[in-house]
Amino acid sequence: MVLLPLMSISSLSVRLRNLAGVTFRRDFIRSRSYTHALPPTILTKIFGSNKGKTFGKEATAGSNSLFASPCLREELFCKTSEPVRDCCHKVAIVGAGMVGISVASSLLFQRITSQIAMVDPFPKKLEGDGLDFLHGSIFMRDPKIEFDTDFCITANSKVVVICVGARPTKGGTRLDVVHKNTEIIKEIIPILVNYSPNAVFVVVSNPVDIMSWITWKISGLPIHQVIGSGTYIDSARFRFMIGDRLGIAPSSVQAYIIGEHGDSMVPLWSGVSIAGVQFRDVIPNIGLETDDEKWHELSKEVVTLGAVVRCLKGYTNIAIGLSASDIVASILYNTQNVIPVSTQVQGHHDIDHDMFLSLPCVIGENGITHVIRMHITEYEKKLLHSSANGVFNVQKKIKVNLKKS
Ligand SMILES: NC(=O)c1ccc[n+]([C@@H]2O[C@H](COP(=O)([O-])OP(=O)(O)OC[C@H]3O[C@@H](n4cnc5c(N)ncnc54)[C@H](O)[C@@H]3O)[C@@H](O)[C@H]2O)c1
Repeated sequence: MVLLPLMSISSLSVRLRNLAGVTFRRDFIRSRSYTHALPPTILTKIFGSNKGKTFGKEATAGSNSLFASPCLREELFCKTSEPVRDCCHKVAIVGAGMVGISVASSLLFQRITSQIAMVDPFPKKLEGDGLDFLHGSIFMRDPKIEFDTDFCITANSKVVVICVGARPTKGGTRLDVVHKNTEIIKEIIPILVNYSPNAVFVVVSNPVDIMSWITWKISGLPIHQVIGSGTYIDSARFRFMIGDRLGIAPSSVQAYIIGEHGDSMVPLWSGVSIAGVQFRDVIPNIGLETDDEKWHELSKEVVTLGAVVRCLKGYTNIAIGLSASDIVASILYNTQNVIPVSTQVQGHHDIDHDMFLSLPCVIGENGITHVIRMHITEYEKKLLHSSANGVFNVQKKIKVNLKKS
């Protein structure tokens, strides 16, 4: 049953329980040999129990007996101390689908971290991607890459990135997958928190605002330790579109989208600027239907861009991988960058609901340290409230065994 399209939660947890007994032994073996190869529990499922076969680094090392020989190791290495098992910037990526692999690529290629642990119930694809990364080790400054169906490899992570679950189908919205992904999140978060209680959780799974809220509720973590990737990706698209229309680099455009990462997102025209020049000082009605230059068309278009990419290639992964890894970088390097991410919005802009939506936040080592008090217009506030009500209407139907009330 391991190779079902989405492994059932119950079978995963049974598997997790079964695997728990061998965790210590496997960790011991790993820390001793310091290899990246998958443990035999997974490999035997796919390739049988042929003990002569070796995989991963062991396989590429040629003769197994030569690699395993204690004599060579003892001849080569004069031990002075134990190697550190988990470095202080370890990142766990849960869900090694299109998005998870893209997050891993962004983190490794940009050398944001040198240790990742990828978990997914699909051992075959997981191992394929894991080995592919390992084979590129020398081009990425030799990172430590682990991959397993067992959540134990995520232990002591500084950041846990949640990329599991179903994506919206063509023509569907992100809210359509809420129940399926809620069940997965409810199952995995307590396990992950157990392994990494001090980690900052970055949630990417959709609908991201609701999944982030559920993660916070069931994790029992402080609010600053749970961050939804939110509208960072939408703001990036918005900046790209404005820059493209003006012939300016997107990074030179200051612009934010707040609210839902979904159909009711709110592009903030009141805050769009380049080099300190506010667009609305030039065109007071910019972004409104009455604007002759029709900038408001960008507001409609930006909402559809994720779906456009999904229609064309079946999924989105590159830009979200980059934006999620940028959030991770802000945490690992304690940068205090201001990034629009999904956080608890109750009390902000007169929103009453206990829910997550995106607002620009300051992000550092502990996660979110501040929410920016934006000066938005009454019209934008109305749109934000409508966005909040739409998401809350879906969220309130979800039953979660809450650690917080
Ligand atoms: N926030 C955003 O901007 C954004 C952008 C793109 C995709 N997403 C969301 O990210 C999620 C993943 O998208 P994808 O395209 O990578 O999908 P995918 O189907 O390619 O990958 C999902 C992965 O999750 C794994 N998985 C399922 N249950 C699991 C469990 N219990 N534990 C560990 N792993 C489990 C699956 O095996 C699969 O590999 C979806 O919810 C999608 O909507 C969010």
